[in-house]
Amino acid sequence: MRALLADLLRWKLTEPSPEPMNKRLYRLIRESILDGQLAAGVRLPASRDLANEMNIARNTVIHVYAQLLAEGYVHSRPGSGTYVMDAIPERLLDAGRRTRHRAPDAAAQGLSRRGASIVENAAASPFQWGAFMPGVPDVSAFPHQKFGRIMRGLWRAPPPELLTYGHGGGLPALREALAQHLSVARSVDCEADQIVITEGTQQAIDLATRLLSDVGDVAWVEDPGYWGARSVLKSNGMDVHPVAVDEEGMCPPDMQAADAPPRPTFIFMTPSHQYPLGSIMSLARRRQWLALARAWNCWIVEDDYDSEFRYSGHPIASLQGLEPDARVIYVGTFSKTMYPGLRLGYLVLPKALVPAFQAGHAELYREGHLLTHGAVATFIEEGHYVAHIRRMRMLYERRRAMLVKLIERRLGEGWLHRDGIDAGLHLVLDLPQTMDDREVERVVRERGVLTRALSRYYAVPERAQKGLVLGYACVPENGMAASFEIIVQALREALDAGA
Ligand SMILES: Cc1ncc(COP(=O)(O)O)c(C=O)c1O
Repeated sequence: MRALLADLLRWKLTEPSPEPMNKRLYRLIRESILDGQLAAGVRLPASRDLANEMNIARNTVIHVYAQLLAEGYVHSRPGSGTYVMDAIPERLLDAGRRTRHRAPDAAAQGLSRRGASIVENAAASPFQWGAFMPGVPDVSAFPHQKFGRIMRGLWRAPPPELLTYGHGGGLPALREALAQHLSVARSVDCEADQIVITEGTQQAIDLATRLLSDVGDVAWVEDPGYWGARSVLKSNGMDVHPVAVDEEGMCPPDMQAADAPPRPTFIFMTPSHQYPLGSIMSLARRRQWLALARAWNCWIVEDDYDSEFRYSGHPIASLQGLEPDARVIYVGTFSKTMYPGLRLGYLVLPKALVPAFQAGHAELYREGHLLTHGAVATFIEEGHYVAHIRRMRMLYERRRAMLVKLIERRLGEGWLHRDGIDAGLHLVLDLPQTMDDREVERVVRERGVLTRALSRYYAVPERAQKGLVLGYACVPENGMAASFEIIVQALREALDAGA
């Protein structure tokens, strides 16, 4: 380990820097601990040895170790040495991540203004598995055996065409299978050649933004809304305007008002299950938006991320299929119906746009994963996809019912945000407006429970409602009550502190 640490430090110290050696050494060891390069429990080399190997004064090392000790990064055992703390508090981990994401570092790294803005506003969580992570399906319930059998079959003698670059919007067999599925399950009006397969929704939005907008063009997004879409639109130079939502979905703004937003090129929305509040867009509102898009000659980007999971009544039909030739670009994903790590999504495009999107996709990202496309196509054709969705719908419905019961029993009915609880993979717990929902998110995360503060989803701070977005799909029933109790306890503490 001694040699490893010395190597690591020597390697990191090769770049010239005006920073004094003691500060630099302190920073590098601290960052290595936060990054996990120096794992919990690892013994640091004796100060004399490290000083010799690094060719620096021993006092420098002693002072750096003392500073790390005082700040809780390491502990010392008398006569035995200095060790990395077993459990670095989450706060420290967060602080480390925050400093890596902050502007001064970004500027020091020479990032562009765009790069710095992406990093500074990054909202993707480093934690993606565990109670109550929003947006994550139960990946352990996926029929891996069946999918693996199909994959193994293809791997035995993979046709060279599936191993080289793709060109044309994805494997035709998958586009064919998907077109049939979407027209039945989501009332999407499409043929296979209108589909372009992407590496998830993010890439689909990125492609549409690059091909259909120029820097400075206007996009409207829901507020609250999906931070991932906002990031992509902004990073492509779009002028993003947040638009309020109500119980009927995204509200068309009053264009005569003094503060009316400029007319958009894109209107990004989640009409079947507003993310994250859950409202389902009314038919009247849908028609209104479709008429506006036609009148303004702009595009509605319909993000249909979790609509396969509806637990009562009829499935909500897509906006795209409501009118022929609607000015809608439909975006879907396999992240919720299969698993997010698959990184597969798709665009359904008006026919006239397809050749441009095929060319743009191949040009910007060099298409691939055709073998996986083939496996997913067979998975759909053999009926496993629909069967899996059906099984997951029943599983998630049970989990949702259990979480609703826990909320009502342990907190009371007023805490449950009722819009959209009949669908999706998450629900919203309403908190008093006086409560700091980000602080509650932080406290429960330190105790091992993942949530997202509702206020994080708002772009306009004055609109921000306080709450917690709770994903239930990936929470097994036998552990749910215990995890929820951690939230109850944190809420009690927050209420007591505010009383
Ligand atoms: C609103 C919304 N759209 C889309 C996605 C899925 O994105 P992707 O297909 O890139 O995994 C998510 C994931 O959480 C989401 O919340």
